[in-house]
Amino acid sequence: MQSGLKNFKYDSQIVSHSLVSLDPTQRAWIEVSGKSIEHNVREIKSLLKNGCQFMAVVKADGYGHDAKFVSQNAIKGGADKLGVATLKEGLSLRSEGIEEPILVLGNIYTRKDLLICFKNNLMPTISDIEQCIICDEIGKKYKKLFYIHLKIDTGMSRLGFESKNFVQSFGNIISFENIKIDGIYSHLSTADALDASHESSYANIQRRTFLQLLSDLSIKKYPNIKIHLANSAGTLIDNDFHFDMVRVGLCMYGYKPSQYQSHLKLKPAMSLKSKVSFIRIVDNNVGISYGKKFITSKKTKLAVISIGYADGIYRTLSNKISLIHNGKKYPQIGSITMDQLMIDITGANDINVGDTVTLLGSDSGQCISPVDWADAAETIPWEILCAFKNRLPRVQI
Ligand SMILES: Cc1ncc(COP(=O)(O)O)c(C=O)c1O
Repeated sequence: MQSGLKNFKYDSQIVSHSLVSLDPTQRAWIEVSGKSIEHNVREIKSLLKNGCQFMAVVKADGYGHDAKFVSQNAIKGGADKLGVATLKEGLSLRSEGIEEPILVLGNIYTRKDLLICFKNNLMPTISDIEQCIICDEIGKKYKKLFYIHLKIDTGMSRLGFESKNFVQSFGNIISFENIKIDGIYSHLSTADALDASHESSYANIQRRTFLQLLSDLSIKKYPNIKIHLANSAGTLIDNDFHFDMVRVGLCMYGYKPSQYQSHLKLKPAMSLKSKVSFIRIVDNNVGISYGKKFITSKKTKLAVISIGYADGIYRTLSNKISLIHNGKKYPQIGSITMDQLMIDITGANDINVGDTVTLLGSDSGQCISPVDWADAAETIPWEILCAFKNRLPRVQI
């Protein structure tokens, strides 16, 4: 055995060939439906008045779905612009041949990074006058208008010009000759609240602050500047939040962040699947997995599933989720481990090693959503979606 191992010759060609030919559904994977993304964009667009644009928010690798694939399908569905969080995300889409306008929603503040933005036709979000001066200098040097979006803080307290200073700042910025203000926007902090549609809601207070500022700027004099405020939840509240464009993430992936527009038919774009790698029977009163956080109360048939927290499933979901096989749900038991988890399949005779199980998505009438996981883990569906690691191949369907 020892000498056999010693004599083993590593052949890099064979190894790299095997990697390429490894079936992506060999262990655990995410399926992404391009048709669902396309459908969701069309469905959400049906809420918008004519001429109102749709920005597909594809930051964080398209909320874990693969930004390039999501962008392509969102564009098919009628998305006008794309929103990313970082310069690198924008550059990556450009290198994949995506040519639609891209807004970087995060803050880009160094001259070097703003120049990269400019050279790659990415629009930065601008929150202060110093950034505008740099953009103007870059535009002047390269004799080409630098397209930017100005952001105003109306109550999120994150990025954006302070509302009370904005009118004065705008007066300066509009005189810069080498900048083109493509958009002015703000961001809602509580659009998913139960009372969001009430006149007195915080979302409506933010909207009215935004409206007042736009009126103070005499925005009607600048019909080419796109005004935008709404994320998914804001888009669902009603048309008053739509302005010239909406910036939609969560809904485009198939999930509703609030109770509004409940008739909207969205299709979840992601399914999370894995394989049964082992089946065993354990006695009554046996501890399952690390820490013995689950003790059997009967003779129990277990299936070991090849997915764990290193793939992005929160360990806090241990003993709180179910998996679907052939249209039937089975409870997950014991601590979720780094690469594997166990389910109780006592009484099932149709489950074999190599079978596929569904952790998120639908199978024969049963459905499990990231919203269910978010509730169980006391977090939000955005965090569940963005947690999935690159170890999970994305399979496009
Ligand atoms: C500025 C901005 N606009 C729009 C969105 C999209 O939000 P949602 O996924 O709720 O539609 C985000 C996401 O966090 C954002 O940061």
